Amino acid sequence: MCGIVGYIGKKNCVPILINGLKRLEYRGYDSAGIGIINNGNSKIVKNKGKVSVLEENVNNLQLTANIGIGHTRWATHGIPNEINAHPHSNESGSLFIIHNGIIENYRTIKTDLQNLGYKFTSDTDSEVLVHLIDYFINKGYDLCKAVQFALNEVVGTYGIAVIYNNEPDKLIAARKGSPLVVGLGENENFIASDVSALLSYTKQIVYLDDGELAVITKDGFTVKTISDKEIQKEVHEISISLEEIDKSGYPHFMLKEIMEQPDSVWNSMRGRLLHEEGTAKLGGISEVMDRLVNSNRIILSACGTSWHAGLVGEYMIENLTQIPTEVEYASEFRYRNPIISKDDTVILISQSGETADTLAALREAKNRGALVLGICNVVGSTIARESEAGVYIHAGPEIGVASTKAFTSQLVVLALITLLVARKKNLSAAEGRVIVEALQDLPEKVYQCLKLNETIEQIANEFKDASNFLYLGRGYNFPVALEGALKLKEISYIHAEGYPAAEMKHGPIALIDENLPVVFIAPKDSTYEKVVSNIEEVKARGGRLIAIASENDNDIDELVDYSIKIPDTVEMLRPILTSIPLQLLAYHIAVKKGLNVDQPRNLAKSVTVE
Ligand code: F6R
Repeated sequence: MCGIVGYIGKKNCVPILINGLKRLEYRGYDSAGIGIINNGNSKIVKNKGKVSVLEENVNNLQLTANIGIGHTRWATHGIPNEINAHPHSNESGSLFIIHNGIIENYRTIKTDLQNLGYKFTSDTDSEVLVHLIDYFINKGYDLCKAVQFALNEVVGTYGIAVIYNNEPDKLIAARKGSPLVVGLGENENFIASDVSALLSYTKQIVYLDDGELAVITKDGFTVKTISDKEIQKEVHEISISLEEIDKSGYPHFMLKEIMEQPDSVWNSMRGRLLHEEGTAKLGGISEVMDRLVNSNRIILSACGTSWHAGLVGEYMIENLTQIPTEVEYASEFRYRNPIISKDDTVILISQSGETADTLAALREAKNRGALVLGICNVVGSTIARESEAGVYIHAGPEIGVASTKAFTSQLVVLALITLLVARKKNLSAAEGRVIVEALQDLPEKVYQCLKLNETIEQIANEFKDASNFLYLGRGYNFPVALEGALKLKEISYIHAEGYPAAEMKHGPIALIDENLPVVFIAPKDSTYEKVVSNIEEVKARGGRLIAIASENDNDIDELVDYSIKIPDTVEMLRPILTSIPLQLLAYHIAVKKGLNVDQPRNLAKSVTVE
């Protein structure tokens, strides 16, 4: 949510900033801008719309500078337009700031500053920061002190970068609640909200923590707290490659990421299966295993697609380990005074590892003494670092805003955790081996599902003009129905709802007519017969039926308009396969509607505001 990049060094920063912003555009894409300082001349270029528009504007201006900051915005306060785009500047145009996060007390600060004669031009909360820093500079403080004093006044979240014409040899960055990293180069240094912006230049990364501020020059950096205590930081070498964040010939990141799933699913379990013992080996949680196995209760907390993964996890964990398990929206969990004890385990699931609500849930659970585990994709992310222990899903960078491969990898990791705990409880080695073998067979089966791409594209053509969709499933298939509906609505803007199939008759059945496509997730499992009855009920009312069904199920063809046949696996792993055709269906419908599937309207990857 909002991309931040900054450069200080000997090179021209303008192409570096633009390149970084292109990499970060998935974090927000309603407006973009850069601010640079060149030999005492400072300049801002910003516009509504994409980074490509900004690129054209800066190219026309032929700008050069050795220090600059860039921002791609996801609007919170103030509509997406040029004035509200970042950077924001003080009145004299000497001080620039970019901000990710929300300043909650901005109204009070704004009024105070207005009373002192400060003029505001934008509707953003961010603009108060630049005037507040300016206020402290005018009181005689240097830039670093002025930023520290200003940040002491604000309530809310921020990742900021600041540059100042009168101190052109430094870039200041600070964070509270919004991710920021410092990238280290030779005679040049960088900042970014996400390492992907820096991969072309450096792999040496320092992660800033909440309450920290970095002063970055071309030759080095220092980190201190907002209250001025120096901190020694560790330098990390990151292993992501540039190829991993390219489209590799695919028209969209989303399609690339869907198609990568045989590999990403495998990478999530690689080196973690113990066939003979019929269990899993997860180094990241080995030290807390006893506490986990003896938990009174497990709570899975997450948002969006990761929450759907949590719902599948609940079925897995309860079925196999008999540990009472609950799933909570992180945004609700954090505010409802949850009853948690030190005998509970709270597992946070987050692809980005930066989702503000999930992070707040983590901190709440930690405060209350629960064992706190993280399941994250982004290595070094805040949730990964703040969890007591955890398991990376190793799905590789996910750039498309709609989460696809991260979801299936989250399910793999949840299955591994379930298997490990269950084996320490009641599950026999023989039963464990069945699951291990099913996991090993999954990549090939995922590949079989992907071979349905063309068939699904044809089905998408048939249904692209529908204005509503219903997704139905029972048991393990219910969270898949929710996930299928979310995928469709977020990228195609078609209203879609997911329901437990049997709930249909308690209300949604009223929606059914010949215009309503109903997608049943109906593999041959323990709920199959009941679901077939629900299919009959829809058919009797003229609904248009699509079924995700088992490959050996010929009977279903008589009942539905379209059936998508997938290979079979054990019950707990089926959601990994059934969700793939739904990802493809959503993708093709959105493409056929001419929509930007990688950057759907109003959305952003990594939601770092509440
Ligand atoms: C949907 C989607 C979102 C995320 C949610 C949580 O396709 O991507 O619903 O799943 O914002 O994000 P993470 O997993 O990064 O915490």
